[in-house]
Amino acid sequence: MDKKVTVVGAGNVGATAAQRLAEKELCDVVLVDIIDGLPQGKALDLAEAAPIEKHDAHPTGSNDYAASANSDIVIITAGIPRKPGMSRDDLLSTNAGIMKNVTQQVVKHSPDAVLIIVSNPLDAMCHVAYEASGFPKNRVIGMAGVLDSARFRTFIAMELNVSVENTTAFVLGGHGDTMVPLPRYSTVAGIPITELLSQERIDALVERTANGGAEIVKLLKTGSAFYAPASAAVEMAESILKDKKKILPCAVYLEGEYGFNDLFIGVPVKLGTNGVEEVIQITLTAQEKAALEKSADAVRELKELLKKLS
Ligand code: NAI
Ligand code: 2OP
Repeated sequence: MDKKVTVVGAGNVGATAAQRLAEKELCDVVLVDIIDGLPQGKALDLAEAAPIEKHDAHPTGSNDYAASANSDIVIITAGIPRKPGMSRDDLLSTNAGIMKNVTQQVVKHSPDAVLIIVSNPLDAMCHVAYEASGFPKNRVIGMAGVLDSARFRTFIAMELNVSVENTTAFVLGGHGDTMVPLPRYSTVAGIPITELLSQERIDALVERTANGGAEIVKLLKTGSAFYAPASAAVEMAESILKDKKKILPCAVYLEGEYGFNDLFIGVPVKLGTNGVEEVIQITLTAQEKAALEKSADAVRELKELLKKLS
């Protein structure tokens, strides 16, 4: 196919993203992982499903980044999830090391790629990838807002018993407890949910959204969400590959927009061939702005921690 996407990390999110990319027939798909046989095995399995799923995405897997050469997009999901007994600092430090190493290898082979970062802690990992890549800010994008907004949309549709297709939602800020779901900008068939639901019900949906990742971890017990995260990363990739110019909430490097500087945080952006083509600045109430400030503080805290660890 004329486009190529590499997914680094052939675990739950990475392998599911590879499957979605292939089945949507968006591009040739390469899986890269540090574990010998894992990306090769999953890619072969995906390739053997191709005659039935009817795609020519030629999935391949490798432990060598040479296989990723000249990718249009690289989705980075490599890292470890938090395990019992591990501190947040342990996760930050381990995944920062992995992200730095992976990014350096990726950019050697695909100097013109757009990077979609997935590994956690998301906003901090975007900073690591941005610095390690030396890429311009439009080509380093974090996935979180699309997932968090999809969760909000799911809960809105469940609450009102309407099609998810009728829903839109915006969740901004960092990917953590302080994320900022925006009910005023969340709609059903164009009607803001503030017209359709009581404040009490909106608050409940907002809280469920902010705890959406933890809700899945509690149910799965051995890992975190991967179907919706993979779908979210692939929606971003599709908008870039097809130059669709979708407006999606993504973690991007801000230089003055929304009053933030030198910070990756989730805001609405336009995604096209060049990656981030525009940061969309929407008006926020004082309360919404304060919530975004609080979320930015949490990201800054992790960024400072990163500095101390390096
Ligand atoms: P997983 O454990 O199933 O897969 C991670 C993969 O990364 C493993 O196959 C592992 O071998 C690989 N890996 C580790 N070090 C590597 C290295 N140096 N080079 C190449 N590959 C390496 O984990 P899962 O569930 O796929 O999650 C991946 C990451 O994505 C985690 O950090 C998780 O917290 C994060 N995540 C972020 C979301 C978001 O909204 N931004 C949503 C869901 C997950
Ligand atoms: C999630 O929100 C773990 O960040 C991941 O599901």
